[in-house]
Amino acid sequence: MSFIGNVRDFPDNSALGIRSGEKALLVVRRAGQLYVYANRCPHTRETLDPEGGSLASSGGLLIQCQRHAAEFLPDTGECVSGPCQGEALTAIPFTLSGGDIYLD
Ligand code: FES
Repeated sequence: MSFIGNVRDFPDNSALGIRSGEKALLVVRRAGQLYVYANRCPHTRETLDPEGGSLASSGGLLIQCQRHAAEFLPDTGECVSGPCQGEALTAIPFTLSGGDIYLD
C-alpha cells in the first residue's frame, strides 16, 4: 500500500490532482466522502488539470476537466456532459486508516 496523503489535505467539495510515483491521481472529497480516480480524461486520456488547482465546479457538485470542460459526478466518476458523456473516470481502490489515505 502506498500513502498518498491525509483527508485533512483535501477540503470538502474539492477535486485535486496529485502524483504518487508515476501515477497521476485525482482525489475528490464531496459531502465528507473521499473518492480517488485516475487523473485521466476518458476523452483524450490526458490529465484533467493541465492548469493545476481544483477541478471542482458548481460548488463541488461536479468535477470539470480543464481541457474541454467535460463534467463528472464526484461519487461515481461518470461523465455527465461534454465529449466523453456516458464514459467514466477510473476509480482507484484505497484504504483509510486514522485519516491517512493508502492506495490498495
Ligand atoms: S480532455 Fe477532458 S474533456 Fe477533453
